[in-house]
Amino acid sequence: MASPSAPHHGAVITVSSNKGGVGKTTLATNLAIYSRALREDLPVLIVGLDDQGTIDRMFSLQEYGPEDGNLKHGWAERSLTRVAQLGQYGVHFVPSPPDVALLKARASDPKTLSRILRETAWPGLVILDTKSDLEALTVNAYHAADRILIPIADWSSLEEAEKIFRLLKAEGGGLVDRARVVFTLVDRRSRVGGASGTTLYQRLRDEASLRGWSYHKTPISRSPRVEALNSGEQKPLSVLHHAKGTAVHTQLRELTLEVLGELGMSDRLDLRCRDDEEETAEQWGRAVSRPSRETSGGVGRWIAPWRR
Ligand SMILES: Nc1ncnc2c1ncn2[C@@H]1O[C@H](COP(=O)(O)OP(=O)(O)O)[C@@H](O)[C@H]1O
Ligand SMILES: [Mg+2]
Repeated sequence: MASPSAPHHGAVITVSSNKGGVGKTTLATNLAIYSRALREDLPVLIVGLDDQGTIDRMFSLQEYGPEDGNLKHGWAERSLTRVAQLGQYGVHFVPSPPDVALLKARASDPKTLSRILRETAWPGLVILDTKSDLEALTVNAYHAADRILIPIADWSSLEEAEKIFRLLKAEGGGLVDRARVVFTLVDRRSRVGGASGTTLYQRLRDEASLRGWSYHKTPISRSPRVEALNSGEQKPLSVLHHAKGTAVHTQLRELTLEVLGELGMSDRLDLRCRDDEEETAEQWGRAVSRPSRETSGGVGRWIAPWRR
């Protein structure tokens, strides 16, 4: 992994759909947590470009004030180095700005975020969770991305995905080749054309193939347990820590392996995926309580204190 003099081998994943409620934030946040669990030497930074505050609620370990900095400050400073906080589950996050409209006004150049991330030189994985739109901040997140994950849950999100693919083609620069569909909220009992018909999921998958879109082979099922994790408490809970017995746990693990594999980040995986929750909590607690202060600036700042 990175040392102060090592080159930066980071990657950026953007999760985007123009349609709300398709599972973007659930996918982005859990992908961050599973990536950390599968590769504990990999620093993971999640950034929300939405104003829902879900990421702050899920990852924050304390109240953050304006003096700690948020995405607005990072944007102005042209680097997220100062404002990234080590959060819950050993995942770093950038506190949300009070108002993303302000940021949007400063995002008319679609390469702004890409430059900010280059300057930040995060030596691991950066995950960008976008708002349900195709506006300036989302377009910035496309230009910054090595991989663009597009959740499709139903026909209307499939039609919205068409708009994203068109936009990515129009933006050029090979952006469209970075896009992958992820089927979400899949209910295998949901059939089209009667009880003996094919499932909606099969139909959506066939249609995506027909349109020439690449998709991840592991879908994410709709699960009442997962739904409850997000809505049952003020703080959304991770699938890895709170819904291990579910199909969604196995799927998120598989999907994370696929995504990291494609990004060339699947060496040194810990395939046990931390089955012992107590040990996990203890290890991550240690990581959280001992942030590295030995180095400052550039990549060095991000040497993970939990790195072995
Ligand atoms: N796999 C799942 N099974 C059941 N409900 C889910 C699942 N993933 C997400 N949800 C629920 O769907 C809603 C929208 O999810 P969210 O991730 O916020 O979507 P988006 O970010 O696209 O708006 C939330 O209430 C969430 O709890
Ligand atoms: Mg969201």
